[in-house]
Amino acid sequence: MLRMLGIETSCDETAASVVALDESGTPKILSNVVLSQIEDHAAFGGVVPEIAARAHVEALDGIVASALDEAGVSVDDLDGIAATAGPGLIGGLIVGLMTAKAIAAASGKPLVAVNHLEGHALTARLTDGVEFPYLLLLVSGGHTQVILVRGVGDYERWATTIDDALGEAFDKTAKLVGLPYPGGPNVERAAREGDASRFSFPRPLRGEARLDFSFSGLKTAVRQAATAIAPLSDQDVADICASFQRAITETLEERVGKSLSRFREIYPDIDDPALVVAGGVAANKAIRETLDRLCGKHAMRLVAPPIALCTDNAAMIAWAGLERMRAGMASNDESMSFAPRSR
Ligand code: KG4
Ligand code: ZN
Repeated sequence: MLRMLGIETSCDETAASVVALDESGTPKILSNVVLSQIEDHAAFGGVVPEIAARAHVEALDGIVASALDEAGVSVDDLDGIAATAGPGLIGGLIVGLMTAKAIAAASGKPLVAVNHLEGHALTARLTDGVEFPYLLLLVSGGHTQVILVRGVGDYERWATTIDDALGEAFDKTAKLVGLPYPGGPNVERAAREGDASRFSFPRPLRGEARLDFSFSGLKTAVRQAATAIAPLSDQDVADICASFQRAITETLEERVGKSLSRFREIYPDIDDPALVVAGGVAANKAIRETLDRLCGKHAMRLVAPPIALCTDNAAMIAWAGLERMRAGMASNDESMSFAPRSR
């Protein structure tokens, strides 16, 4: 039995978790504690790095203690400590990685430096036992990427956004129509009451051979529409949100569809071809339904981990640490000298 403590502080969640891996290779989340700073940042309409770093300093010790406590283990019972080393906001990364180094140094347990994106990429193996290779669609406030996951530490990025991240597009749209931060859930809720055919927003990069995404043109179109009809009634807001969300789902269908075709071309014969979706935007029901349908067309399975494990959390970091350790890729010497990296 291996037990790994995970620490995640790359953005606005202070999180710690203990994940176990038994002899038969079955993982179990023993605890998963997440403290969101959303309230600290809401008044500013987005995450303020300096406030985030201070909040991590104040909260992290207590969150780590809760995670150990809930798991019913002490530091002595651990086989390692994994912490996010990047990418993310540098202040938070320093707090998390230094805390992990201190625990590792004091206890003599190995430290595993984990890339935040690798945490998202491997979560579906923790929750659904998905086998390599698979395709990952990561859609969060900071990232919009399609990644081919061939193995632990073996990733090939197929697509990224050339401007805004998808979550960022939701957040900016929310701001433009006067909905509070974080925008995604509020835009989704408003869209339910709206007429998606009222505004025709662009479908960026449609038909282009490359696999990338672009969302800034969409945001500009939303701004123009909102300015043209201001002041906005509730119905106007709902119609803009519904039209925006339709543009997004149709764009994903076309863009992600190209990646799925390519995946099927490269791997025509694998048993259970899967698209894994991760990141906060994966909470969006309309987007999930679109991806589900799209996967059906390509004879693939959509794997969407539970929302709490799609958004930022430390169980994914502990799990990535275990995967690295099991694969013989967790070098303590390397990790202890690892400097946090924002990019
Ligand atoms: O993964 P996450 O919790 O944090 C990082 O960015 O790493 O993702 C947060 C993003 C925000 O931009 C938020 O607006 C978006 O995910 N989001 C949503 C929904 N829930 C959260 N976007 C669209 N629909 C939602 N239901
Ligand atoms: Zn994330």
